[in-house]
Amino acid sequence: MTVIKNSVLQRAIILSAALTLCLSCQPKRNAGDEHKWWKEAIVYQIYPRSFKDSDGDGVGDLKGIISKLDYIQSLGVTAVWLNPIYSSPNDDNGYDISDYRSIMKEFGTMQDFDELLKGLHERGIKLVMDVVVNHSSDEHEWFKQSRSSRTNPYRNYYHWWNAERGKPSSRYSLFDVNHDAWKYDSLTNAYYLHYFSRKQPDLNWENPKLRHEVYDIMKFWADKGIDGFRLDAFQFAAKDTTFKAFPEGYEKNFIKYYAMGPHLHDYLKEMNEEVFSKYDVMSVAEGAGNSFQDAHDLVDADRKELNMAYAFDGVDIAKPEGYNVIHFKTVFTRWDSAFADKGWLSIFLANHDQARMVSRFGNDSVQWRALSSKMLSTFIMTMRGTPYYYNGDELGMTNAGFDKIDQYRDMPTLNEYQHQKDTGGDLNKFMQRIKFECRDNGRTPFQWDSTANAGFSSNAPWIGVNSNYKEINVAQQEKDSTSCLNYFRKLTQLRKKYPVLVYGKYTQMDKICRHAYAFRREADGQKFLVLLNFASTVSQINAPVHPDAQVLLSNYPGAEDNKGKLSVNLRPYEAIIFKY
Ligand code: GLC
Repeated sequence: MTVIKNSVLQRAIILSAALTLCLSCQPKRNAGDEHKWWKEAIVYQIYPRSFKDSDGDGVGDLKGIISKLDYIQSLGVTAVWLNPIYSSPNDDNGYDISDYRSIMKEFGTMQDFDELLKGLHERGIKLVMDVVVNHSSDEHEWFKQSRSSRTNPYRNYYHWWNAERGKPSSRYSLFDVNHDAWKYDSLTNAYYLHYFSRKQPDLNWENPKLRHEVYDIMKFWADKGIDGFRLDAFQFAAKDTTFKAFPEGYEKNFIKYYAMGPHLHDYLKEMNEEVFSKYDVMSVAEGAGNSFQDAHDLVDADRKELNMAYAFDGVDIAKPEGYNVIHFKTVFTRWDSAFADKGWLSIFLANHDQARMVSRFGNDSVQWRALSSKMLSTFIMTMRGTPYYYNGDELGMTNAGFDKIDQYRDMPTLNEYQHQKDTGGDLNKFMQRIKFECRDNGRTPFQWDSTANAGFSSNAPWIGVNSNYKEINVAQQEKDSTSCLNYFRKLTQLRKKYPVLVYGKYTQMDKICRHAYAFRREADGQKFLVLLNFASTVSQINAPVHPDAQVLLSNYPGAEDNKGKLSVNLRPYEAIIFKY
C-alpha cells in the first residue's frame, strides 16, 4: 500500500516538476507575439486646420486633405489620425465639441468626410478619429440643457456644485485665466467643473446615460467604417465626485491627482464591450497614468480595455536649456523593458500639443536642421511600439518662433499671458518660453511650396506661415533625393519590409555614451543595429558593427566604412541603420 501511495505521490511530483520545467522552457511571451495591424501601423497625424485650405478662407479643410491624398500615400504611412473635425465653436481648435455627429463648418460637410474616408481606404490607409469626451463644448445642447435648471434631465451630464454648499474645494484648471476649474453660473446659483477652459465643461462619466450616449456616438463613426479612436484626455474622465480637498501644491502634479480616477477601468471595459469589441478598430488613449502599472492596466490585452496609451515621459524631456541624452535613452529604454513581455507602446516625439520635433530634440539651425531631423525620424521609425508621426516633421518643419503675443492663437497660451500680466509675472521670460514650447509652433500652415502662404491657402491663413517656407517645402524636397521627405519615405519602406523593426527585441548598447544612442533590434535570426548621434560634434559610441553588416539607410554617405569596427565615430547628427 505504502509503495503504491509513494509511487503515486512520486509520479505526481515528477509530473508537476516536468510541467514546471516545460512551462519555464517555453519561449518567453513577447510583446509582439500577437501580430496586429495596429502594431504594424505607421500613424501620420494630420492637423486639419493647418494642412491644406481648399476654399480660400485661410483655414485647412477636408477637401484640402482630399486633394493631398496621393501625397499622404506617397509617404508610405498606413494610418492617419485626424484631430477633431466635429462642429465646434473653436475655443480650443475643435477640442470643444458642440455636436459629435456633424462636421465643423469651416472643415466641410459629411459628404466630404465620406469621400475622405473612401479615398484613404482606396489607398490602403486607415483612419483614426479623435474622441473628446472628458468634456464637451459649453455650446453643446447637453450643456445648454444642463445649465438651464437644477432639475433638467441633463443636469447630471456635467459636474455641478450648488453654491449654498459653499465654494467647492479647489481644482486646478489647465487652461483657465485664473486656473480655477470651478466656474460660477448665476442662472442656477451653482459652479460647474472644467479642467480645461470655461468653454469645456467636464462630462460626468458616473452617469450611465451619458456613457451610453458616448458609445452611440462612437458606434455612429465606427459604422461609417473608421478604423480607430484616439481618446483625448481620457485618463481624467473618472472623478471622485465628493470633491474632497487635495493637499496644497497638488496643481504641480495634477496628473497624480486627476489621472486614473475611480471606475476609469470600469468605463473602459464597458466601452470595449459596447464599441471596440464589435468592430475591427484600434484604440489609443492620451495619457498613461502615473506608473508602468497604470499603463499596463490600460492596455494589457487580457483586460479588454484599450490597445495603446501614450505617455508623456519621452516628449517632456526637451527643455529650452537643452536635455540630457543619457536621460532620453534611459526613459525610452525603461518604457521598452516595462512592455517587453506584455502590452504595447506608442512612440512619438511630437504632436499638435508640442512645438516642432526638430526645434526641441534636434537642431533647427540651417546647418543641422535636415541632418538632425532625419536622425530623429530614424529613432521614431526603428523603435518598438506604434510610431505616431506629426505632419510637417517629414519636411523638418521648425518652430515659427513668433516674437509678439498677437501672433499667437492658442487659447491657453493667451490666457496664461493674461494671467502673468494680472499677477505681475515676468512677461519677457514668458515670451522666451513660448517661443520654444508653445504648441502654435507646431500648428503653422503646412509648407507645400514657395508660393504665397506656402501654397497652403490662397488667402491669409488663420495663423502666420513660418518665414522659412521658401527653403523648407514639399515642392523643393520632392526634387531632392537626399531631402528629409525622401529620407522619411525610405524609413517607412524599411519599417514595412522588416517586421523585426516592429516586433523585434530591443537592447540598448553603450548606456554611458553622453551624446549618442545605439540599440539593437532582433528577431528570427535577423539583427539590426541603429546608431544615432544627438550632438553637433563627433561622438564615439561603443557598438561593434558586424563585418558583414549591410547599411540599410544613413543620413550621410560612407557609413559602410564602419563595418567590422568595435566602436564608431558618428558625425554630427549621423544616423545609421545596419542589418546583419
Ligand atoms: C488634449 C488635446 C489638446 C486639448 C486638450 C483639451 O490634451 O490633445 O489639444 O487642448 O486635450 O481637450
